[in-house]
Amino acid sequence: MEQVTLTATCGFGLEAVVARELFKLGYPDVKKSDGRITFTAPIDAIPKCNLHLRSANRVLLKLAEFPAEDFDAFFDQIHDLEWEGWIPRDAYIPVTGSSQKSKLHGVPALQGMAKKAIATRLQDVYKSELPESGASFPVHFDMRHDQCTIFLNTSGDGLHRRGYREKAGLAPLRETLAASLIQLSVWNRERTLLDPLCGSGTIPIEAALIARNIPPGRNRSFAAELWPRIPGQLWDDVREAAEAAIDTSEMLPIIATDQDYHVLKVARENARLAGVEEDIHFQQQDLSETTTKRKYGCLITNPPYGQRLNEEEEARQVWQTLSDVTEHWSTWSLFIFVASREFESLFGKRATRRRKLFNSSIECTYYQYLGDKPPSMRKRTISDDPSQKE
Ligand SMILES: C[S@@+](CC[C@H](N)C(=O)[O-])C[C@H]1O[C@@H](n2cnc3c(N)ncnc32)[C@H](O)[C@@H]1O
Repeated sequence: MEQVTLTATCGFGLEAVVARELFKLGYPDVKKSDGRITFTAPIDAIPKCNLHLRSANRVLLKLAEFPAEDFDAFFDQIHDLEWEGWIPRDAYIPVTGSSQKSKLHGVPALQGMAKKAIATRLQDVYKSELPESGASFPVHFDMRHDQCTIFLNTSGDGLHRRGYREKAGLAPLRETLAASLIQLSVWNRERTLLDPLCGSGTIPIEAALIARNIPPGRNRSFAAELWPRIPGQLWDDVREAAEAAIDTSEMLPIIATDQDYHVLKVARENARLAGVEEDIHFQQQDLSETTTKRKYGCLITNPPYGQRLNEEEEARQVWQTLSDVTEHWSTWSLFIFVASREFESLFGKRATRRRKLFNSSIECTYYQYLGDKPPSMRKRTISDDPSQKE
């Protein structure tokens, strides 16, 4: 099978999570850099990674990397690539790009130039105008330190677009980020998961998808599905294998509550679209009424930030309530994702661990409070604990 070099992109700080997902998919040899994980694999990695990666933003096909300190070098090296090997005559070719710490930094001008270089090459090869009426072949260039990397974006829309979240509450988490938060926690399907501020349900839904081994890309299509160089059969085979691997065994212990009736309705509908409605117990409840009879569990939640919802005092009140209701939950592990460095002082407890992550461009911290392990998990060594890896 043809070998390709792929780059999975992700949010800053989530590289190890994506690398671990790639390891599980059978791609252990990866190179990590800021927001990128690069590896070489047979071409069926394109359907596999698009369908299965939960925490990555996109899967890019790397076509070339070269130094480009001036416009001529940029244009000529793009023009010289064998675009016709991937792109047919009628392709629609949108070009995006970024530039950091490089002499060439005017992204709109570079976009126009890249497009012209590709179009000139293809017009020469196909000996015709390019109608741009067919499938999409999104090109992306990335300039860093005067080094240009050229990609084809195999995903199209970002992988957070799972196809289940048609509506959302205020300040919803990205699906890819929610999947990362779960994978950075110690939750597994044997433990109760509670999100007492569930909003549109992103955390519980992503947890159910993980526990059921439902591929996150099940309900969507990807740009590269229409590319002639990737046989359609590969996509069919990968989708078929993924369906066969879905785990339909016993019920999942996932509880999602929120005070807002309307947002819960949205959450239920999202869960239905994601195929996990039966797996989540949704309930309207104020945070202050949260209790549990379950001895071991994980609370994973994303309280109001204050900053983002513009209601600082109210947000602080919620953090305080969260602290009160969980005060005696020493056998629970708590994972709280919030855009504040002051959270610990209001919560009244020092976190076992904190991670700097981003929700879009907002700097956030993932505070982790590890509780006692359930007896069935005590034999696991510290190295099995995902939060201790890296
Ligand atoms: C930042 S949003 C959660 C977003 C969610 N993770 C998502 O992806 O949609 C915070 C949620 O906390 C809920 N909330 C705020 N105060 C609450 C309280 N006292 N009791 C229960 N829910 C509350 C809000 O209704 C809102 O849905």
